[in-house]
Amino acid sequence: MFDSPIDEIKQKIDIVDLIQEYIPLRQAGANFKANCPFHQEKTPSFMVSRERQIFKCFGCQEGGDIFKFIMKMEGLEFGDALRHLAKKAGVVLKRQDPQLQTRRAKILEILELASQFYHQALLKSQAGEVARQYVKERKIDDLACDQFRLGFAPDRFDELYKFLKKKDFKDSDILDSGLVVKKQIQDTRYKIQDTNFFDRFRHRLMFPIFDVHNNVIGFGGRILPGAKTYKGEEPAKYINTPQTFVYDKSRVLYGLNFAKFEIRKQKRAVVVEGYMDVIASHQAGVTNVVAASGTALTLWQIQFLKRYSENIILAFDMDLAGDSATKRGIDSAISCGLNVKIAFLPEGKDPDELIKNIGKQAWQKAIDDNVSIMDYYFKSTFENLDLEKVENKKKAAEILLPVIAQFPNPIEQAHYLQRLAKKIFVSEEDLRQTFENLKIKTKKKYANRGKIQNSAANEGILTKKEDKDLILKQLFSLVFHYPQYFKAIKGRLGEEYLDGDFKILYKNICQEYNEDKLLNIDQLSQKLKKIKPNLPEILGEIYLYYEKNPIPENEALKEIEQLVLRFCESFFKKRLQEIEEKMIEAEKEKDSEKIKTLSLSFSKISNQLHNLTLQKNQKNKK
Ligand code: UTP
Ligand code: MN
Repeated sequence: MFDSPIDEIKQKIDIVDLIQEYIPLRQAGANFKANCPFHQEKTPSFMVSRERQIFKCFGCQEGGDIFKFIMKMEGLEFGDALRHLAKKAGVVLKRQDPQLQTRRAKILEILELASQFYHQALLKSQAGEVARQYVKERKIDDLACDQFRLGFAPDRFDELYKFLKKKDFKDSDILDSGLVVKKQIQDTRYKIQDTNFFDRFRHRLMFPIFDVHNNVIGFGGRILPGAKTYKGEEPAKYINTPQTFVYDKSRVLYGLNFAKFEIRKQKRAVVVEGYMDVIASHQAGVTNVVAASGTALTLWQIQFLKRYSENIILAFDMDLAGDSATKRGIDSAISCGLNVKIAFLPEGKDPDELIKNIGKQAWQKAIDDNVSIMDYYFKSTFENLDLEKVENKKKAAEILLPVIAQFPNPIEQAHYLQRLAKKIFVSEEDLRQTFENLKIKTKKKYANRGKIQNSAANEGILTKKEDKDLILKQLFSLVFHYPQYFKAIKGRLGEEYLDGDFKILYKNICQEYNEDKLLNIDQLSQKLKKIKPNLPEILGEIYLYYEKNPIPENEALKEIEQLVLRFCESFFKKRLQEIEEKMIEAEKEKDSEKIKTLSLSFSKISNQLHNLTLQKNQKNKK
């Protein structure tokens, strides 16, 4: 029938359906297109062909079949992509397949079987009664219990170990899974030496931890009522799988496998603290929720979440004072360009308690009423400080400036600087100067995050001359054909934004411009020829450009405005970058006059840029 499982999988999974699970596709003739998920772009150059079952991005040149797409999208090796798609297609891969018999696959198989063992023990075993009672008490319903595959680890030494041995797994593989602990037993009286394996989880409610592809990669186990103390010590409330070949607690987002599609759909992810919070929330129908599970947000978790949404809402009790782990997590999320918001939890309840005591509407409301992290910082800073006192103004600046410095985007920085300046009645320039000094220091501190910071700040800058020229060509070609819209350019595109041939062209077009009739290209051409011999050729090229890319009159104005905005945005961003560089120089030379002048122009330009961005967003909405 099929030559290989690969062919079979390709037969069963349609590439359009598969990609649509990740990004929205729009039909374009026989093909589909979208904004490329693998590089930043504003106009779609990512094409998918159903007929040929391939994708191709004409922007970044990525392309291939379903396997290539999954490898790239989920960051997987071929073997893992194969297993993932096989599962999806319902294709059974033979165990002997050497590509699949990796150590990782072995461990995953053990963990999968263990999760079923625990789950059955919860549902059916006699000893499981205590756990069944507890689940009921915590108001987890049957559906959620099945979905999250909750389980029960019996209070026995080696029940799981024996179960796994019966399935013919080797001790070394079982150990690798993190489910058992090896103990050397030495009894000198009888000269006995023996090795024993104990189950790590005993008398616990078990939470399998899935990776984003629904593989069980580890477990959390919560203590149940009636736990024995061991050597007089209370057992830990939760124990988790230790670091293994497949489990790394800094790389877990509990519930993401169930939440990922809703996160994409809603364009926001809610992060809670615990397993129980995730389950309660999903059970209540709020399903874009994941947990960081006992760790502060790590860089990995942040980067991973960012694949699904740029917006995250943190919903746990936060200690933002000092250098807490949470604060560091938030700081790096901001540095990565994520839009971080905070949900206040009434009366310090966790989401699980909130849902059970007050109701799911209260939980949804807490999420919807999220405030920006800066609102949170501003609010909590000013709540505790009496601003009549000078030293408190200083203190407020000391707390807030480093936070502002974390924003990769200069527009946001400028915005919050203005807000802080107003609040503490200090001139913006003075504040800006302190700020720049501080930024130079933090730059060093966060040098390793520089890459991320830069890429976010540089977005929108047209770095290549060809890109810039193309925008200008498009613009000019449009006004040649629709002179009535030239005014949309004239007020906005300053001559100083241009250089070289385009500057001369623009100047002359402005002079010749007449609202009522088309430009006389021949006349203009003659005139330009005298100024610079190559200009008529460029003019001709621009004129012809329209023939290749005609735009109907009713769309022309919108297009012109977008092009102008994009061009100016790039110009301003470029200027800001240059000023920043000069500022660093001036700082080295300790030239305070220069720093001050630069700060002023920085502030001025970032204001202009801010207005521009507002205009652009408004235009997009229309
Ligand atoms: P919590 O103590 O808030 O637990 O820890 P919880 O999830 O609300 O559970 P209940 O409602 O008391 O039953 C939050 C998360 O921190 C991790 C777990 O992931 C837990 O869900 N944690 C907590 C540990 O890993 N070890 C611990 O000892 C405690
Ligand atoms: Mn709780």
